Amino acid sequence: PDAVMEKLVSLSKRRGFVFQSSEIYGGLASCWDYGPLGVELKRNIKDAWWNAMTKHYDNIVGLDSAIMMNPRVWEASGHVDSFNDPMIDDKTSKRRYRADHLIEGYIASLEKKGKTEEAARVQGEYHKALATEPLVKSLYDLIIKEEIKAPDSGAFNWTEVRQFNLMFQAPLGAVADEASIVYLRPETAQGIFVNFQTVREAARMKVPFGIAQIGKAFRNEIVKGNFIFRMIEFEQMEMQYFVKPGTQMEAFEEWRERRMSWYTESLGISKEKLHWYKHDQLAHYADAAYDIKFEFPFGIEEIEGIHSRTDFDLRRHQEYSGKSMEYFDQESKERYLPYVVETSAGSDRLFLAVLSDAYTEDEIDGESRVSLNLHPNLAPIKAGLFPLMKKEGMPEIAQKLQKELQKQFKVQYDDAGSIGKRYRRQDEIGTPYCFTIDHDTLQDGTVTVRDRDTTEQSRIALDQVKAFLSEKLLK
Ligand code: GAP
Repeated sequence: PDAVMEKLVSLSKRRGFVFQSSEIYGGLASCWDYGPLGVELKRNIKDAWWNAMTKHYDNIVGLDSAIMMNPRVWEASGHVDSFNDPMIDDKTSKRRYRADHLIEGYIASLEKKGKTEEAARVQGEYHKALATEPLVKSLYDLIIKEEIKAPDSGAFNWTEVRQFNLMFQAPLGAVADEASIVYLRPETAQGIFVNFQTVREAARMKVPFGIAQIGKAFRNEIVKGNFIFRMIEFEQMEMQYFVKPGTQMEAFEEWRERRMSWYTESLGISKEKLHWYKHDQLAHYADAAYDIKFEFPFGIEEIEGIHSRTDFDLRRHQEYSGKSMEYFDQESKERYLPYVVETSAGSDRLFLAVLSDAYTEDEIDGESRVSLNLHPNLAPIKAGLFPLMKKEGMPEIAQKLQKELQKQFKVQYDDAGSIGKRYRRQDEIGTPYCFTIDHDTLQDGTVTVRDRDTTEQSRIALDQVKAFLSEKLLK
């Protein structure tokens, strides 16, 4: 699995999909930049989501709310109080660990060594500690008592366990005091909740309806790594669907089905790599929760959450803001706080899922080949345009074709090296079709079209290339 990830990371950098942020200064952990091909692929993923939400359903509207909000939002949402992890610093290695992860890692290591009884005993202690207030102290005591060591340094030199809020804070204005701290949002959802009434009225929406948003979110994540899987600055694609209380399960099941089929149909992800995970331990306000998980090279991990959140968020904002969040149902003449079914995915995680699912190594005519079998709608470049030779008017024909196609599609002109080499370059970045202008073009006005996945070649009329691409891409 590490080898596969290494290949993905290396291809991503070499071909300009994704690379480390501020790399010339040594980078910044868990921050990544999207290069020329990466922005295209990511935009295509987001467009696929945006279309599936706001275009395909006339009762879903879009929103782009600010990253920074009134700090009261995060008190109401519960993030100030509970978006916390108990952390412990190792003074020797100068690394910070989540206390619960440290203990769980220790239990797992005991099990691995076959010390099952010992593992069960510590597990029991751990459960007791989790139920003991204050939690930070009980976890710390357990770490000390069991002499749990840092996994890499092997040292035993801890600070106290501290609560560490995952929200980034920024001082607002020149004078830094408590009142002028703002947070960088850790999820986009709250922008939707607080704007519920304004959006509903402006767009004249009737329950059930949804609000969709794509935007950056920030979390001071402690556990780092796995490329763009877990970042501190990332992007979410969230949709909150407001329904009449009592109808939430129906909406929940409907959205589960729609979201799962979107992955196979719109993103072209292999069905067998997608899994449902049911949350048995629900947050106190949720009445159902499932995650969609994907088989990454490093394991099966969450890519999207579909949660039935009751009226928790609207109720809290009503309470904290003093503004009514109620809805008057014209048909039933009832007034109520809508319930919410949420679908929440990360576009960076989906990018990695799409990339790792598409990555293929095979052999063509005895030569090894790397290709990205991307869904054509997601491919950053839709077509490669090759003049067979840099003479006899071939470049001019290819450039004319390029001009014509560019109005609608992202295409790439390439006249360097053998045709075989040019195919490989396009295969590696997932270009679904390549068109070659050759001697026959000069005779009969046809071009060679070559398919990335089958590598099969056929001829079509030059003036049919645009129609061909439209047919293949805009389905
Ligand atoms: N409003 C609900 C919410 O934010 P979440 O499960 O915390 O739920 C939803 O996040 C999605 O956002 C995840 O399924 C994942 O795709 C993405 N996500 C969360 N944290 C992330 C991180 N640190 N880096 C990249 N993506 C992340």
